[in-house]
Amino acid sequence: MPATAPTLDHLRASLDSIGQGHVLAFWNDLGDAERGALLAQLAGLDLGGVPALVAEYVTARPDPRLPAEIRPAPYYPNDPAASFRPWDRGHFRAVGEHLLRGGKVACFTVAGGQGTRLGYDGPKGCYPAGAVTGKSLFQFFAEAIRKTGQKYGATPAWYIMTSPLNHGPTVAFFEEHSYFGLGRDGVRFFPQGVMPSFDMKTGRMLLAGRGEIATNPDGHGGSLTALKVSGALADMAGRGVEHISYFQVDNPIVRVADPVFLGLHAAAPDSSGEMSSKMLAKAYPEEKLGMFCVADGKLQVIEYSDLPMERQRERLPDGRLRFLAGSPAIHAMSVAFVEKVTGDPRFALPYHRAEKKVPCVDPETGAAIKPDAPNGVKLERFVFDAIPLAQHSIVYEADRIEEFAPIKNAAGVDSPESSRKIQTERAARWLEASGVAVPRGAGGEAGCTIELSPLTGIGPEDLVGCGVTIARGASVAI
Ligand code: UTP
Repeated sequence: MPATAPTLDHLRASLDSIGQGHVLAFWNDLGDAERGALLAQLAGLDLGGVPALVAEYVTARPDPRLPAEIRPAPYYPNDPAASFRPWDRGHFRAVGEHLLRGGKVACFTVAGGQGTRLGYDGPKGCYPAGAVTGKSLFQFFAEAIRKTGQKYGATPAWYIMTSPLNHGPTVAFFEEHSYFGLGRDGVRFFPQGVMPSFDMKTGRMLLAGRGEIATNPDGHGGSLTALKVSGALADMAGRGVEHISYFQVDNPIVRVADPVFLGLHAAAPDSSGEMSSKMLAKAYPEEKLGMFCVADGKLQVIEYSDLPMERQRERLPDGRLRFLAGSPAIHAMSVAFVEKVTGDPRFALPYHRAEKKVPCVDPETGAAIKPDAPNGVKLERFVFDAIPLAQHSIVYEADRIEEFAPIKNAAGVDSPESSRKIQTERAARWLEASGVAVPRGAGGEAGCTIELSPLTGIGPEDLVGCGVTIARGASVAI
């Protein structure tokens, strides 16, 4: 739709007044469709808020505002007999299983990220993650959800947050794979919001093309608002769902609906049942995981880049790291909690600033720029910033090998290769527990590659009586 002259003049004046007039630099070269698209993009942005955002996050680097007193967060240890905090795993498992049987739990995958570190051409959920079959991340989750349904008699509905940049290919992938047996009604997709990407030096919005502002998804923290505005939250309530099992798209062995965690979340005496988290014991102080802390009387996650390294190196008398509880970004939230926070007109999680390489066009010449160093600032919201909005929030320790094999980087730490090793190690553990001999090397490492389909097992108990034979050097999918 072409702009009428007065509208365009008005828009130009308001963009000029906030230092963003360059967005219309190529207006005269654009066709009607491009003009319409640009106007629609501008209409979807909170232009009035741009100057404050630029001043706070783009042209300045905000100092981390650390609370005065920060303590490590208490947590439920993975070993329920641990002397510092014994607890009744069986009881909370039963509570979680009851929720699952009653269809009160939905699975929620945030899959709107750009996956730039992995460098995969397509939505990250389509990445071939299986150690043997190369099955996709999405297929792992779908199978785990189906198995959950088989075990508890109710298949959790699955909600997937995409972004406007990967929504179409994500839905097409599910169509192509017949929704992995879950049926169209079992999976619901909705896109998250976007933010403009800014020029790091000038604070001007970068242009992706002559008639397009460069944007980035607004972070996994955008998921709460997206759940609400997309109608997904109302859909959950309509299906009788009370709790949301939240996980990221990059971890093929995640427990998509862990009954013990859900039970603790819903019924632990120190939980308000609103938002809960899993933690992983940091392997070493420098490990890049946000840490669960208590500050200002509230549980919260402090980013590894914000807590001074000497504090991250502090140890308890028994040698354990004092700030041990790292965040793998696995949460449980109640539908009522998301309704409550998103229903508040003042609800706004803070932004986090990331410097990135953003391909763009030069606003003076229109020439394409492919930066080889970060030129842009992306602003994102993080879901863990919602934790302090819960009245009482608990943390439960997960075991790395049991449930954390993320694929973030193309090589090295958290890569497809490290994920394949953990997938194998977890399967080996479960098989050995059920009496299957797994060939191992002198250092104890598995001498084979094993991929376990979640349809075969989502917990060690599912492998009891599983009679397989695994030869040294074999690649086996079970
Ligand atoms: P990451 O922090 O790994 O970001 O996201 P990313 O964008 O996927 O990858 P890089 O940093 O560009 O390499 C953690 C999880 O949060 C989701 C991702 O899809 C992933 O599941 N996410 C991230 C969103 O859904 N939306 C976002 O805006 C950002």
